[in-house]
Amino acid sequence: MLQSQLCREQDFTMPWFTHACTKLRENMRFHRKLWEWCYIYEALRERDMLLPFRKGLGFGVGKEPLAAAFAAQGTEIVATDLDVDNAKTQGWVDTNQHANTLADLNGKGLCDPHQFANLVSYETADMNRISDKFTGQFDFTWSSCSFEHLGSIELGKRFIVNQMKCLRPGGVAVHTTEFNLTSNEETLEMPILVIYRRKDIEAMADELRREGYRITIDYTAGAGPFESYVDLPPYNNPVHLRLMLGQFVSTSIGLIIEKPQ
Ligand SMILES: C[S@@+](CC[C@H](N)C(=O)[O-])C[C@H]1O[C@@H](n2cnc3c(N)ncnc32)[C@H](O)[C@@H]1O
Repeated sequence: MLQSQLCREQDFTMPWFTHACTKLRENMRFHRKLWEWCYIYEALRERDMLLPFRKGLGFGVGKEPLAAAFAAQGTEIVATDLDVDNAKTQGWVDTNQHANTLADLNGKGLCDPHQFANLVSYETADMNRISDKFTGQFDFTWSSCSFEHLGSIELGKRFIVNQMKCLRPGGVAVHTTEFNLTSNEETLEMPILVIYRRKDIEAMADELRREGYRITIDYTAGAGPFESYVDLPPYNNPVHLRLMLGQFVSTSIGLIIEKPQ
Protein backbone atom coordinates (compact mmCIF):
# COMPACT_ATOMS: atom_id res chain seq x y z
CA MET A 1 0.00 0.00 0.00
CA LEU A 2 1.11 3.58 -0.60
CA GLN A 3 2.49 5.44 2.40
CA SER A 4 3.39 9.09 2.85
CA GLN A 5 6.15 9.84 0.35
CA LEU A 6 7.68 12.27 -2.12
CA CYS A 7 6.64 12.48 -5.77
CA ARG A 8 8.93 9.99 -7.54
CA GLU A 9 9.56 9.25 -11.18
CA GLN A 10 9.20 5.51 -10.67
CA ASP A 11 5.53 5.96 -9.68
CA PHE A 12 4.65 7.14 -13.18
CA THR A 13 5.20 3.65 -14.61
CA MET A 14 3.24 1.81 -11.92
CA PRO A 15 -0.08 0.11 -12.78
CA TRP A 16 -1.84 2.10 -10.04
CA PHE A 17 -0.72 5.33 -11.71
CA THR A 18 -1.98 4.23 -15.13
CA HIS A 19 -5.27 3.13 -13.55
CA ALA A 20 -5.76 6.48 -11.81
CA CYS A 21 -4.94 8.37 -15.04
CA THR A 22 -7.68 6.38 -16.77
CA LYS A 23 -10.21 7.18 -14.05
CA LEU A 24 -9.26 10.88 -14.19
CA ARG A 25 -9.17 10.82 -18.01
CA GLU A 26 -5.70 12.33 -17.98
CA ASN A 27 -2.86 11.51 -20.37
CA MET A 28 0.24 10.23 -18.60
CA ARG A 29 2.85 12.99 -18.31
CA PHE A 30 5.72 13.68 -15.93
CA HIS A 31 3.95 16.40 -13.97
CA ARG A 32 3.73 16.53 -10.22
CA LYS A 33 0.16 17.89 -10.24
CA LEU A 34 -0.94 14.74 -12.06
CA TRP A 35 1.06 12.70 -9.52
CA GLU A 36 -0.76 14.43 -6.64
CA TRP A 37 -4.19 13.62 -8.06
CA CYS A 38 -3.26 10.01 -8.92
CA TYR A 39 -1.61 9.49 -5.52
CA ILE A 40 -4.71 10.74 -3.67
CA TYR A 41 -6.96 8.60 -5.88
CA GLU A 42 -4.92 5.43 -5.30
CA ALA A 43 -4.34 6.00 -1.56
CA LEU A 44 -8.11 6.20 -1.08
CA ARG A 45 -9.00 3.42 -3.55
CA GLU A 46 -6.66 0.84 -2.03
CA ARG A 47 -8.04 1.62 1.44
CA ASP A 48 -11.59 0.85 0.21
CA MET A 49 -12.67 4.48 0.49
CA LEU A 50 -14.03 4.88 -3.04
CA LEU A 51 -17.16 2.79 -2.50
CA PRO A 52 -20.87 3.68 -2.55
CA PHE A 53 -21.35 3.74 1.22
CA ARG A 54 -18.39 6.08 1.82
CA LYS A 55 -18.47 9.84 2.37
CA GLY A 56 -15.56 12.19 1.59
CA LEU A 57 -14.71 15.84 2.31
CA GLY A 58 -12.41 17.79 -0.04
CA PHE A 59 -10.68 21.05 0.93
CA GLY A 60 -9.46 23.79 -1.46
CA VAL A 61 -10.68 21.69 -4.39
CA GLY A 62 -10.28 24.32 -7.11
CA LYS A 63 -11.02 22.81 -10.55
CA GLU A 64 -9.39 19.45 -9.78
CA PRO A 65 -11.18 16.34 -11.14
CA LEU A 66 -11.14 14.31 -7.91
CA ALA A 67 -14.65 15.06 -6.59
CA ALA A 68 -16.19 13.91 -9.89
CA ALA A 69 -13.92 10.84 -10.12
CA PHE A 70 -14.87 9.82 -6.55
CA ALA A 71 -18.60 10.38 -7.20
CA ALA A 72 -18.30 8.22 -10.36
CA GLN A 73 -17.44 5.35 -7.96
CA GLY A 74 -20.69 6.04 -6.04
CA THR A 75 -19.02 7.91 -3.15
CA GLU A 76 -20.86 10.84 -1.53
CA ILE A 77 -18.75 14.00 -1.60
CA VAL A 78 -18.77 17.40 0.10
CA ALA A 79 -16.37 19.57 -1.92
CA THR A 80 -15.22 22.87 -0.41
CA ASP A 81 -13.15 25.88 -1.38
CA LEU A 82 -12.43 29.36 -0.07
CA ASP A 83 -15.21 31.94 -0.54
CA VAL A 84 -14.94 33.77 -3.85
CA ASP A 85 -14.00 37.19 -2.44
CA ASN A 86 -11.02 35.86 -0.49
CA ALA A 87 -10.05 33.54 -3.35
CA LYS A 88 -10.09 36.53 -5.73
CA THR A 89 -7.87 38.56 -3.39
CA GLN A 90 -5.36 35.70 -3.30
CA GLY A 91 -5.35 35.31 -7.09
CA TRP A 92 -7.00 31.86 -7.28
CA VAL A 93 -9.92 33.12 -9.37
CA ASP A 94 -7.81 34.92 -11.99
CA THR A 95 -5.54 31.88 -12.39
CA ASN A 96 -8.60 29.62 -12.86
CA GLN A 97 -7.72 27.54 -9.79
CA HIS A 98 -10.83 28.17 -7.70
CA ALA A 99 -14.17 26.37 -7.58
CA ASN A 100 -17.18 28.61 -7.18
CA THR A 101 -19.99 26.33 -8.33
CA LEU A 102 -20.82 22.65 -8.39
CA ALA A 103 -20.59 22.62 -12.19
CA ASP A 104 -16.89 23.61 -11.92
CA LEU A 105 -16.19 20.18 -10.41
CA ASN A 106 -17.49 17.95 -13.22
CA GLY A 107 -16.14 19.96 -16.13
CA LYS A 108 -14.71 16.87 -17.84
CA GLY A 109 -17.89 14.85 -17.37
CA LEU A 110 -16.09 12.17 -15.31
CA CYS A 111 -19.33 11.44 -13.49
CA ASP A 112 -22.80 10.94 -14.96
CA PRO A 113 -24.52 14.34 -14.38
CA HIS A 114 -27.52 12.82 -12.58
CA GLN A 115 -25.29 10.76 -10.25
CA PHE A 116 -23.05 13.80 -9.74
CA ALA A 117 -26.02 15.97 -8.72
CA ASN A 118 -27.18 13.29 -6.27
CA LEU A 119 -23.81 12.64 -4.66
CA VAL A 120 -21.79 15.87 -4.70
CA SER A 121 -22.46 19.07 -2.81
CA TYR A 122 -20.35 22.22 -2.81
CA GLU A 123 -19.85 24.77 -0.06
CA THR A 124 -17.34 27.39 0.94
CA ALA A 125 -15.01 26.50 3.80
CA ASP A 126 -11.90 28.21 5.16
CA MET A 127 -9.25 25.59 5.91
CA ASN A 128 -8.06 27.85 8.75
CA ARG A 129 -11.49 27.70 10.40
CA ILE A 130 -12.95 24.22 9.96
CA SER A 131 -16.59 24.14 10.99
CA ASP A 132 -17.59 21.91 13.92
CA LYS A 133 -20.49 20.65 11.81
CA PHE A 134 -17.98 18.45 9.92
CA THR A 135 -16.77 16.71 13.10
CA GLY A 136 -16.92 12.91 12.79
CA GLN A 137 -18.95 13.03 9.56
CA PHE A 138 -16.54 11.59 6.97
CA ASP A 139 -14.76 8.38 6.00
CA PHE A 140 -12.06 10.35 4.23
CA THR A 141 -10.70 13.85 3.67
CA TRP A 142 -8.33 15.13 1.02
CA SER A 143 -6.63 18.21 -0.39
CA SER A 144 -4.25 18.69 -3.29
CA CYS A 145 -1.71 21.49 -3.38
CA SER A 146 -3.70 23.64 -0.93
CA PHE A 147 -2.44 23.61 2.66
CA GLU A 148 0.83 25.37 1.73
CA HIS A 149 -1.34 28.44 0.97
CA LEU A 150 -2.86 28.97 4.44
CA GLY A 151 -0.58 31.80 5.59
CA SER A 152 2.32 30.10 7.40
CA ILE A 153 4.00 26.77 8.10
CA GLU A 154 2.24 26.65 11.46
CA LEU A 155 -1.23 27.32 9.96
CA GLY A 156 -0.77 24.45 7.49
CA LYS A 157 0.26 22.19 10.35
CA ARG A 158 -2.77 23.30 12.39
CA PHE A 159 -5.00 22.49 9.40
CA ILE A 160 -3.59 18.97 9.08
CA VAL A 161 -4.12 18.24 12.77
CA ASN A 162 -7.55 19.92 12.94
CA GLN A 163 -9.02 18.30 9.82
CA MET A 164 -8.53 14.86 11.41
CA LYS A 165 -11.53 15.64 13.63
CA CYS A 166 -13.74 15.46 10.52
CA LEU A 167 -13.04 11.72 10.21
CA ARG A 168 -15.00 8.85 11.66
CA PRO A 169 -12.99 6.13 13.46
CA GLY A 170 -11.17 4.11 10.77
CA GLY A 171 -11.10 7.13 8.46
CA VAL A 172 -8.20 8.26 6.29
CA ALA A 173 -6.85 11.69 5.30
CA VAL A 174 -4.73 12.21 2.17
CA HIS A 175 -3.12 15.60 1.55
CA THR A 176 -0.35 16.81 -0.74
CA THR A 177 1.91 19.85 -0.38
CA GLU A 178 5.30 21.42 -1.24
CA PHE A 179 8.48 19.76 0.03
CA ASN A 180 11.89 21.47 0.23
CA LEU A 181 14.57 19.29 -1.38
CA THR A 182 17.32 21.90 -0.99
CA SER A 183 17.45 22.58 2.74
CA ASN A 184 16.25 21.32 6.08
CA GLU A 185 17.15 24.70 7.61
CA GLU A 186 16.23 27.59 5.28
CA THR A 187 12.91 27.70 3.49
CA LEU A 188 10.29 29.91 1.85
CA GLU A 189 7.53 31.17 4.14
CA MET A 190 5.28 33.83 2.62
CA PRO A 191 1.57 34.48 3.31
CA ILE A 192 0.62 33.02 -0.10
CA LEU A 193 3.04 30.07 -0.16
CA VAL A 194 5.27 28.03 2.15
CA ILE A 195 7.58 25.11 1.42
CA TYR A 196 7.71 22.44 4.10
CA ARG A 197 11.13 21.19 5.22
CA ARG A 198 11.62 17.65 6.41
CA LYS A 199 11.77 18.92 9.99
CA ASP A 200 8.38 20.65 9.58
CA ILE A 201 6.81 17.43 8.28
CA GLU A 202 8.42 15.46 11.11
CA ALA A 203 7.05 17.92 13.69
CA MET A 204 3.61 17.57 12.10
CA ALA A 205 3.86 13.76 12.13
CA ASP A 206 4.98 13.77 15.77
CA GLU A 207 1.96 15.82 16.76
CA LEU A 208 -0.36 13.55 14.77
CA ARG A 209 1.11 10.47 16.46
CA ARG A 210 0.75 12.10 19.90
CA GLU A 211 -2.96 12.55 19.09
CA GLY A 212 -3.20 8.82 18.32
CA TYR A 213 -3.18 8.94 14.49
CA ARG A 214 -1.01 6.74 12.26
CA ILE A 215 1.44 8.09 9.69
CA THR A 216 4.56 6.49 8.13
CA ILE A 217 6.77 8.63 5.90
CA ASP A 218 9.34 7.61 3.28
CA TYR A 219 11.56 10.60 2.40
CA THR A 220 13.43 8.82 -0.40
CA ALA A 221 14.03 11.21 -3.31
CA GLY A 222 14.77 9.59 -6.65
CA ALA A 223 17.58 10.52 -9.02
CA GLY A 224 16.08 9.47 -12.35
CA PRO A 225 16.44 11.65 -15.47
CA PHE A 226 13.02 13.29 -15.14
CA GLU A 227 13.40 13.97 -11.43
CA SER A 228 16.85 15.44 -11.92
CA TYR A 229 15.35 18.17 -14.10
CA VAL A 230 14.27 21.34 -12.23
CA ASP A 231 11.59 23.44 -13.93
CA LEU A 232 12.06 27.21 -13.82
CA PRO A 233 9.57 30.10 -14.03
CA PRO A 234 7.16 30.31 -15.86
CA TYR A 235 7.03 26.55 -15.25
CA ASN A 236 5.69 25.43 -18.59
CA ASN A 237 8.15 22.65 -19.31
CA PRO A 238 6.34 19.35 -19.95
CA VAL A 239 8.64 17.67 -17.40
CA HIS A 240 7.64 19.15 -14.05
CA LEU A 241 8.39 16.88 -11.10
CA ARG A 242 10.66 19.42 -9.43
CA LEU A 243 10.60 23.19 -9.63
CA MET A 244 12.62 26.13 -8.41
CA LEU A 245 10.71 28.30 -5.91
CA GLY A 246 12.89 31.21 -4.89
CA GLN A 247 16.26 29.60 -4.10
CA PHE A 248 14.78 26.19 -3.22
CA VAL A 249 14.10 23.09 -5.29
CA SER A 250 10.66 21.83 -4.38
CA THR A 251 8.64 18.72 -5.16
CA SER A 252 5.35 17.33 -3.91
CA ILE A 253 4.89 15.23 -0.82
CA GLY A 254 1.80 13.16 -0.15
CA LEU A 255 0.65 12.50 3.41
CA ILE A 256 -1.62 9.59 4.36
CA ILE A 257 -2.91 9.80 7.93
CA GLU A 258 -5.13 7.13 9.44
CA LYS A 259 -7.50 7.42 12.38
CA PRO A 260 -7.68 4.16 14.34
CA GLN A 261 -11.01 2.34 14.71
C1 LIG B 1 -3.07 25.74 -6.07
S1 LIG B 1 -4.80 25.74 -5.91
C2 LIG B 1 -5.13 24.00 -5.93
C3 LIG B 1 -6.50 23.70 -6.43
C4 LIG B 1 -6.81 22.20 -6.56
N1 LIG B 1 -6.77 21.55 -5.28
C5 LIG B 1 -5.91 21.51 -7.54
O1 LIG B 1 -5.19 20.57 -7.17
O2 LIG B 1 -5.94 21.89 -8.72
C6 LIG B 1 -5.03 26.18 -4.20
C7 LIG B 1 -6.48 26.07 -3.72
O3 LIG B 1 -6.49 26.34 -2.31
C8 LIG B 1 -7.62 27.16 -2.03
N2 LIG B 1 -7.36 27.87 -0.78
C9 LIG B 1 -6.36 28.77 -0.50
N3 LIG B 1 -6.49 29.21 0.77
C10 LIG B 1 -7.57 28.55 1.30
C11 LIG B 1 -8.22 28.59 2.58
N4 LIG B 1 -7.78 29.37 3.57
N5 LIG B 1 -9.30 27.81 2.75
C12 LIG B 1 -9.77 27.01 1.76
N6 LIG B 1 -9.20 26.93 0.54
C13 LIG B 1 -8.12 27.71 0.32
C14 LIG B 1 -7.72 28.07 -3.26
O4 LIG B 1 -9.00 28.67 -3.36
C15 LIG B 1 -7.44 27.06 -4.38
O5 LIG B 1 -8.61 26.37 -4.75
